[in-house]
Amino acid sequence: MTTQKPHATKHEGKVALITGGSSGIGLATAQRLALEGATVIITGRRQPELDGAVRKIGRDATAIRGDIASLEDLDRLFSTIKVRHGRLDILFANAGTGEFMPLGMALFGKPGRKRNLRVR
Ligand SMILES: NC(=O)c1ccc[n+]([C@@H]2O[C@H](COP(=O)([O-])OP(=O)(O)OC[C@H]3O[C@@H](n4cnc5c(N)ncnc54)[C@H](OP(=O)(O)O)[C@@H]3O)[C@@H](O)[C@H]2O)c1
Repeated sequence: MTTQKPHATKHEGKVALITGGSSGIGLATAQRLALEGATVIITGRRQPELDGAVRKIGRDATAIRGDIASLEDLDRLFSTIKVRHGRLDILFANAGTGEFMPLGMALFGKPGRKRNLRVR
């Protein structure tokens, strides 16, 4: 597998939000976007994990704690970004979880929280 080298100014001046940016794919994406010049904001529910991720990302990354399944938290997230940055150029809607379940449950089970996570 080849990994493309980061392009230091590819995202220069852009404001990027990565939901679920405190671990896994979200954290890796946040690190890459920061390396490529973006101002990175991450979100997640656990403050200690967010703090650790911000340290790993460096480059003035910030974290805003919140649950993306909560409309209140989403409103607070976007109004904070608007106040601090005035705009959002990149949104990586990554937050989520996975679990194994019977196909029938996945297709016809109660939507509730899972739908909220996927749709929002
Ligand atoms: N890894 C895979 O093989 C794979 C395959 C297919 C799809 N995906 C999808 O890709 C995404 C990332 O996967 P991953 O393996 O990197 O996951 P991960 O390491 O478990 O990270 C999930 C991230 O999402 C955050 N998060 C979870 N629920 C949240 C919520 N309600 N509100 C805000 N943040 C939330 C977590 O932080 P907190 O827990 O602190 O909130 C964490 O930062 C997920 O949506 C997953 O379903 C992954």
